[in-house]
Amino acid sequence: MQKTEIGGVDLIEIKRIETLGEGYLQFFEGNSFQKDFPYEIKRIYYITETPKGICRGGHAHKALKQILFCPYGDITLVLSDTKKRIDIKLDKPNKAVIISKPIWREMRWNIENSVLCVGASEYYDENDYIRDYDQYIEYMKRGK
Ligand code: TYD
Repeated sequence: MQKTEIGGVDLIEIKRIETLGEGYLQFFEGNSFQKDFPYEIKRIYYITETPKGICRGGHAHKALKQILFCPYGDITLVLSDTKKRIDIKLDKPNKAVIISKPIWREMRWNIENSVLCVGASEYYDENDYIRDYDQYIEYMKRGK
């Protein structure tokens, strides 16, 4: 796992196996005994059929931890903890980002039909979202 300039945002290179002439098989394993994704994955979702230039996201999660990867295409994650901002390009199928803190995120589609896959540590809960940036700043100032 490789740390970034923002605490709670780490990169991993997903392991992959080349099946000669037939492509690559990428895989990671997750469980609480610290494998590639150190949380139980309770939910998987993926975003498809997004036109080029679209920017999704614009929210943070209070408790949810996620692993994000792009098996096809090119998506830029714009991540901020209010003090620092980093852009991470998901442009290789074996590159993944783990977000384990309340980080404000936007996702930009650089290529039409890029696929964003997410493994999430919790079931869907709208109450875990902070969708207003001012509220996010307040939340981070309060420290919770
Ligand atoms: P949202 O997380 O806001 O998408 P993005 O950050 O990519 O723009 O989710 C879009 C909508 O889908 C929102 O109404 C919540 C709903 N949703 C679910 O019902 N289940 C899920 O697992 C997720 C991730 C979203």
